[in-house]
Amino acid sequence: MKVLVTGGAGFVGSNLAVSLQDGNEVSVLDNFSSTDDKNLEGFDGNIINGDIRDSATIAKISEPDIIFHQAAITDTTITDQGTVFSVNVEGFRNVLDYAITKGINLVYASSAGVYGNGPVPMKEGQSSPLNSYGSSKLAMDNLAKRHWNSGIKIIGLRYFNVFGPRELYKKKAASMIYQLALQMAADKRPKIFKYGEQMRDHIYVKDVVQANVMAMKAKESCIVNVGTGKATSFNDVVAILNEVLGKDLEPEYIDNPYKNGYQNNTQASTENAQKLLGFKSKYTLQKAVQEYLTEIGMI
Ligand SMILES: NC(=O)c1ccc[n+]([C@@H]2O[C@H](COP(=O)([O-])OP(=O)(O)OC[C@H]3O[C@@H](n4cnc5c(N)ncnc54)[C@H](O)[C@@H]3O)[C@@H](O)[C@H]2O)c1
Repeated sequence: MKVLVTGGAGFVGSNLAVSLQDGNEVSVLDNFSSTDDKNLEGFDGNIINGDIRDSATIAKISEPDIIFHQAAITDTTITDQGTVFSVNVEGFRNVLDYAITKGINLVYASSAGVYGNGPVPMKEGQSSPLNSYGSSKLAMDNLAKRHWNSGIKIIGLRYFNVFGPRELYKKKAASMIYQLALQMAADKRPKIFKYGEQMRDHIYVKDVVQANVMAMKAKESCIVNVGTGKATSFNDVVAILNEVLGKDLEPEYIDNPYKNGYQNNTQASTENAQKLLGFKSKYTLQKAVQEYLTEIGMI
């Protein structure tokens, strides 16, 4: 099968591209605006250096059988709505138009950012984004829904907090699991926002790859959550990291600089993902952290 992964040099995209190359002909489209080509180590498919906002570039791509759209501005602290929307919504519109014109099914990355501080567990019918990034992902979902009758299948996956290998280059934007593990491996007390009671649904990137694979076989267009259904407090993340790293470090509580626009709790309702894709995450947080830190040589 011929597969195109947009944003394929990024964190999730590169995991997807590398995992799909076994048995498929995989191409990656990325403008390398927020990544490093080192992230594609181990990938031996086709790499297209191009921008999703440029429909001429997209039109020239040799037609795939399926598209996984991951390219986006993923920094949730960027406040300039115009910039975020031009890539996340207008770029997506180009990819969607191309997919519809050529009759290619499309799986795209949405986000739990659409839920803001809505009630948990978060269900796909809810939305109350708190920032430009979350609003752009909601706009993508609305755009996708308007094309559900266009003859192709369009599957939106609302990822929760993804962590795992190939996120290292993201630096400040890397997952909190990685940031805290880095501090703690260096025997520094982990800095978390006061008082560590905030909750997140952390999902391992290998489960996210699996959700994408299962989305290829969806019977109809849909938007579903990709989370574990379990929320873990920041304090409990520190406890798990202490155990995995063999440390005994107390958190250092700091003020949250993002008081407005900060999601305090995220937790996915996983019913629709199970019903519509047959997807259920396999990794517990402890097992994923253990495997991840081993894989990157931290333990
Ligand atoms: N990582 C998470 O926790 C998470 C959570 C929810 C949703 N998502 C979504 O999943 C997708 C992948 O996220 P990620 O964490 O891998 O992010 P990432 O920043 O690592 O990857 C995004 C990639 O898109 C590329 N890109 C940006 N603008 C582009 C453009 N105009 N044209 C072509 N390529 C462009 C970047 O260079 C980068 O390689 C994104 O759509 C993101 O919104 C991620």
